[in-house]
Amino acid sequence: MSWSCAHISCIRFSCEGVLLKANVMKRALSLLPHLPRMRLYCSGFRSFSSNLATSICKQIKYSGPISVAQYMKEVLTTPHAGYYVHKDMLGRQGDFITSPELNQMFGELIAIWFINEWSALGSPKSFRFVELGPGRGSLADDILKQFKHFEKIFKDVDMSFHFVEISRRLSNIQYETLCDENLMDYLDEDNLEYYLQGSAKRNNVPLHWHRHIENVPRDKFTFYLAHEFFDALPVHKFVKSSKGWRELYVDVTPESNDELSLVQLQEETVASKTLIRNHETRSHVEVCPEGRTIISSIAKQIEKNGGAGLIIDYGHTGEKEDTLRSFKDHKLNDIFDNIGDADLTADVDFRFLLDNIESIDIQKSGPITQKEFLTNMGIELRLMILLQHCKDSAEKKKLTDSYKIMMDEKEMGERFKVLALSSKTRQTDSPITGFFSLTQNS
Ligand SMILES: C[S@@+](CC[C@H](N)C(=O)[O-])C[C@H]1O[C@@H](n2cnc3c(N)ncnc32)[C@H](O)[C@@H]1O
Repeated sequence: MSWSCAHISCIRFSCEGVLLKANVMKRALSLLPHLPRMRLYCSGFRSFSSNLATSICKQIKYSGPISVAQYMKEVLTTPHAGYYVHKDMLGRQGDFITSPELNQMFGELIAIWFINEWSALGSPKSFRFVELGPGRGSLADDILKQFKHFEKIFKDVDMSFHFVEISRRLSNIQYETLCDENLMDYLDEDNLEYYLQGSAKRNNVPLHWHRHIENVPRDKFTFYLAHEFFDALPVHKFVKSSKGWRELYVDVTPESNDELSLVQLQEETVASKTLIRNHETRSHVEVCPEGRTIISSIAKQIEKNGGAGLIIDYGHTGEKEDTLRSFKDHKLNDIFDNIGDADLTADVDFRFLLDNIESIDIQKSGPITQKEFLTNMGIELRLMILLQHCKDSAEKKKLTDSYKIMMDEKEMGERFKVLALSSKTRQTDSPITGFFSLTQNS
């Protein structure tokens, strides 16, 4: 039996048959005393020194294997030790780079999108702007800068910005990017809907930081932005076997000293019974229940109180199979290596997100590729203008290089997709901004 995981070159393959029951019996304190499973990919972690790796391993030894979703959740968001919680991973010194960190054009065009949609939706006099997973705060900063340029049209508008951020470390950085840092004051987050508040240094817009989307008040027109957020949410992994869909779990390789590997459970789990859609044709599927909860929450709020949203992430429309991977220092990393110190990410299944909001009565456009979206938003014209203002050829090269990364089909241009949501109260017949070609309509 062999499993293909060709595109994750750093995951080694091994198939060692069904685990011995005796090994399972060793787990005296096991909460899942006997989950028959088949070992699939074996992949040791060399940096086992991290406390997080030690605690995951101990947990598995005592309680039995954990789902891939549980593993991702612990690696990424365990308080104090999780990857997103303790690390500043963005930028050239970090593990990966995002479009807003590359150049200002991305944030500027996103801001223009929201200004256009605000106008198309009747220019409401009061709104919230919610960004999920703001990273270093660069995207919000570029958007606030643009909103400042349009301050005449926003003169009597009451707006506030809300960040859904799990990481205190990143919220510190976001605060420093966006506010006057001397005034930082963390609040008792257990008792309040937000744990940090401030005021944008650019235009005094009130800013609030929340741990969960549910903590953001839901009583008025709201804009949503999620860029590279959904891909950080935990996925369950399933493979189709002769007996039906079976879930992959993370286990400690029995004959090794603390090596982790993926195993295929022989019995069904609640997840394998409930998360696979009817007529699924793939043989390996990743499903993100937290993504479903969040997209539903956004769509329902837009339906009820009005609003619009942009979801931008690398993803697909239900055709990709095994996409879970890890990055460290801009290189692929074994998913079981450098635990808590390397990113874990899975491509967003936009088909799954859309299927889950099918019955919600809002307008949906896309997903289209980032290249199409930015082209429709006029990135080429913006690039030309910025190039004219570059002070030397080095600055020009930096700008054109970063433009290529965002637009190139082999880089972010094709892999990133853009999905837009909007309430049906649009006061124009034209499609949602960015989802039609400017040249075709002129
Ligand atoms: C890849 S970064 C995105 C960075 C940013 N949007 C950008 O474009 O540069 C993911 C962001 O989501 C946050 N995040 C990850 N999982 C989260 C969760 N479950 N709840 C809230 N924030 C989360 C991270 O701390 C980080 O700010």
